[in-house]
Amino acid sequence: MSLHQTRSSLLRIVLPIVLLLVMMSGIAPGVTRANTFPTSMPARYSSMPTLNDADFKLDVIYQVVLDRFFDGDPANNDPPGDKGLYDPTKTNWKKYWGGDLAGLTQKLPYIAGMGVGAIWISPAVENVHKLVNGTDAGYHGYWGRDFYHIDPHLGTWADFDKLVATAHAHGIKIIIDFAANHSNPNDTGEFGNIYKDGVYQSTYNNDPNHWFHHNGSSTNPNDQYNSEYYNLFDLSDLAQENPIVDSYLKGAMQLFLSHNVDGVRLDAVGNMPGPTGGWLRTLNDTITVQGSHYAVGEWGGLTGPSDPRYGFAVRFANQSGNAILNYPAYFALDDVYARDHSVKELDSMFSQEEHDFTWLNDQPNFLDNHDVSRFLTLNNSKDALHEGLAVTLTAPGIPIVYYGTEQYLHNDTNGGGDPYNRLMMNSFDTTTTAYVLIKRLAALRQTNPALAYGTYQPRWINDDVYIFERQFYNNVVLIAVNKSATTGYNIGGLKTNLPAGNFNDYLHGLLSGGTSIALNVSKNGAVDPFTLGKNQVAVWQYTASEPAIPEIGSVGPELTHSGDQLVIDGRGFGSTSKKVVIGTTEATATSWTQHSISVIVPKIAGAQYDVKVCLGGAGGTCSNPYKTNIDNGTQIPVTFTVNKVPPTAPGDNVFVTGDVSELGNWSTTTTTAIGPMMDPHNPTWFLLVSVPACKTVSFKFVIIQADGSVKWESGSNHNYTVPCSGVGSSVSVW
Ligand code: NOJ
Ligand code: NOJ
Ligand code: CA
Repeated sequence: MSLHQTRSSLLRIVLPIVLLLVMMSGIAPGVTRANTFPTSMPARYSSMPTLNDADFKLDVIYQVVLDRFFDGDPANNDPPGDKGLYDPTKTNWKKYWGGDLAGLTQKLPYIAGMGVGAIWISPAVENVHKLVNGTDAGYHGYWGRDFYHIDPHLGTWADFDKLVATAHAHGIKIIIDFAANHSNPNDTGEFGNIYKDGVYQSTYNNDPNHWFHHNGSSTNPNDQYNSEYYNLFDLSDLAQENPIVDSYLKGAMQLFLSHNVDGVRLDAVGNMPGPTGGWLRTLNDTITVQGSHYAVGEWGGLTGPSDPRYGFAVRFANQSGNAILNYPAYFALDDVYARDHSVKELDSMFSQEEHDFTWLNDQPNFLDNHDVSRFLTLNNSKDALHEGLAVTLTAPGIPIVYYGTEQYLHNDTNGGGDPYNRLMMNSFDTTTTAYVLIKRLAALRQTNPALAYGTYQPRWINDDVYIFERQFYNNVVLIAVNKSATTGYNIGGLKTNLPAGNFNDYLHGLLSGGTSIALNVSKNGAVDPFTLGKNQVAVWQYTASEPAIPEIGSVGPELTHSGDQLVIDGRGFGSTSKKVVIGTTEATATSWTQHSISVIVPKIAGAQYDVKVCLGGAGGTCSNPYKTNIDNGTQIPVTFTVNKVPPTAPGDNVFVTGDVSELGNWSTTTTTAIGPMMDPHNPTWFLLVSVPACKTVSFKFVIIQADGSVKWESGSNHNYTVPCSGVGSSVSVW
């Protein structure tokens, strides 16, 4: 049996027992998947039970601030060498409170009981040893000083490994939070000090090897250069284009991956180069060559289509290999369920996003997190919380639940934002309505692929009522939420793609005052009128049987290259005589089950391809096509500079375009050419670009004017041979 796809009850029950026995016997837990892979696969596949870490769409993600979750090891609370940062009274919100990796490990059964498939942990790297401004500790993890060490307050690498192994044994994947944009504050505490495995490297005010940018604090989040090359707040801004920094950060990433983490949350991606991927596309490459992983970036505070950064963020999500946290959906969820805006706001957001994102189902949704007020601070109504949660758990995208939401945790001091949204978890009750709601909808996500892979369709909407449908082939989930606390609505004229028949509320009346709302659907999809009472929520679903023709719901990671592992998930894959094609090239499968296939990316030119699973034989029937991005090889960060650019008018931008997919294949639109470049020293423009190692690329610079018209550089193409490792730099004259 391949374990790849079986993150099922079976895995959850049998595997922990097997693992325990194996651990007790002192033999490495070599679980069965190893023999389905060629020996050249990375070591992690042969030594650990492997979960499907390319496809998180089937999972509910649980977000944990490690210091604030559970104290599993009081011995590390006030570690030697790091004294005075701990507050045993838990009243100083900016000191450590004792939570740690061991504590999270102890509470895994509680989290697994909620049906959670992945945990996003706060950054576990060693943070500043001194109090910042004399008051604040790096309890949150975003003030790194040594990316190769575990913070002594949180535990050791052994504790980290135990967390990962135990989580995997529970069928839970681990997502690390990786803050590669910066070390720690440049003006206080340790002044940016950065270490590698205990060895000092640099400090902000004495930085002969240029680890940091020295441009002061960022003042304009809408300005690309200002965001990427200045300090975010006062956080010492790492110079990713410097080969020493590039290898430091990628080495740290590789270290964590070698400790078997499954996914990565990248902090502050809008503050690192650049919108089309840039350095982050090369980091993504470092991740995927170590096996399939899910990666999601944080574009903090992105409000939606009217945000000046929205186009960049969408492009990043569609092209860099990383998803982004769906902040636009967060703002809409927050407006609708915490601030009583019309439901129409949420519907138009998802409709717009479904149009803009290549893979909307890969972008995570959340109701709140450690950077914003908890939902109950904004609207202290459990009904409203349950309604918002039900939508978060069923809308297109991967749901994230912030720890404590299921226990109704909140502290409203000063509006309940940072740090008051980072309370100590104080209850682990598995019977709260929110806990049960998450558990039920997590189970539905595992069994009915409409939630993970389906389309989005609004079905019946007024200011209070949100009825929408998710559909993946014949699998359908219909969700109805009435947020009015005073008015019930008669729902007439509702249409659905559920098959004809009677359907009971999948939540068994959990959010309908105990009434299980029955739905009667006739042959043409018309639903008999029914009443959706005040604050009622109901979910009806139909799970189709295994189809004869394959259906693809996921291909991941989003961006790979020849030799990488690519995972195709869906339904009806069967087990014999089918083949996977990428474009027109057949890919060799390394494991094959009814719902999941792994292949090795063949040697094909970089491009966006359609992946299909086809029945064998000439002219055989194929599944739906599913898009995936393929690069031309290992990605190297190269800074492209062009001098003496002719004068530009406001709104004009310089882009680079060239003969490989990484350079846009000679395209000249603002969403396909590479850029915009930046001009802090006009008429010199520059941009950090991700290009294929060892290859000689040809390219030109173009000015794309505000109206879209294009001015080409005259003369012959520029050529540049990309280094085979490290970083590069190419300087041209227009
Ligand atoms: C976003 C994180 O979520 C936030 O908590 C952090 O302080 C900043 N990035 C800087 O690392
Ligand atoms: C320190 C932390 O609370 C962090 O999460 C936050 O984003 C920054 N301060 C900036 O306010
Ligand atoms: Ca930066």
